[in-house]
Amino acid sequence: MNDIIISPSILSADFMNLETEIKAVEEAGAKWVHIDVMDGHFVPNISIGVPVVKSIRKKTTMFLDTHLMIENPEKYVEAFASAGSDLITFHLEAVANPKKVIDLIKSFGKKAGISIKPKTEAKEIFPYLNDIDLVLIMTVEPGFGGQEFMHDCAMKIPVIKENAPENLIIQVDGGINNLTAKICTSLGANSLVAGSYIYGSKDYKNAIISLS
Ligand code: DX5
Ligand code: ZN
Repeated sequence: MNDIIISPSILSADFMNLETEIKAVEEAGAKWVHIDVMDGHFVPNISIGVPVVKSIRKKTTMFLDTHLMIENPEKYVEAFASAGSDLITFHLEAVANPKKVIDLIKSFGKKAGISIKPKTEAKEIFPYLNDIDLVLIMTVEPGFGGQEFMHDCAMKIPVIKENAPENLIIQVDGGINNLTAKICTSLGANSLVAGSYIYGSKDYKNAIISLS
């Protein structure tokens, strides 16, 4: 069985103690940390941006999984790459020419991901599956942590897996807990983002173990 990559979303962490919160999930066994960037336009919420990624990079060697929920992501790829993101995931719905954005991300030596919102069909991402490192399937409407998992979105996992190269990482984000995690991994996902489930638990290590 392949290992499941757990990516704790700091959106649900205590921002006053971000360094401690990131170290805590690392000590609890996470190798990745998920950073949700929101611009108040692509999604109805504003979160964090480049300076925070830069600060995080100085304090950890964890893999920085950056989820851009922003319009015109191509304008900010260089800034996030320089700030230390390892993976830059943008939304298919936010760009006119996805291939151009993928190439731009790769030109900085970074891994590229594309995310699709609940209403976007799986087949819309097929043309790009050979060019990216990760596909991120949203199982909530992007914008907020703590929402309920949308089961019908999980059905995109096998559809994408069937059309994807072997090494593509299939990540799911939104409403992941110990129960929904099993649904996603049994359907073929090999990376799970979890915010409120991990950061809302008393024991981060047990929470992470219960997802893999
Ligand atoms: C939502 C973000 C998620 C969010 C997930 O727009 O992309 O990464 O942090 O939060 P939970 O795990 O609480 O659904
Ligand atoms: Zn996210």
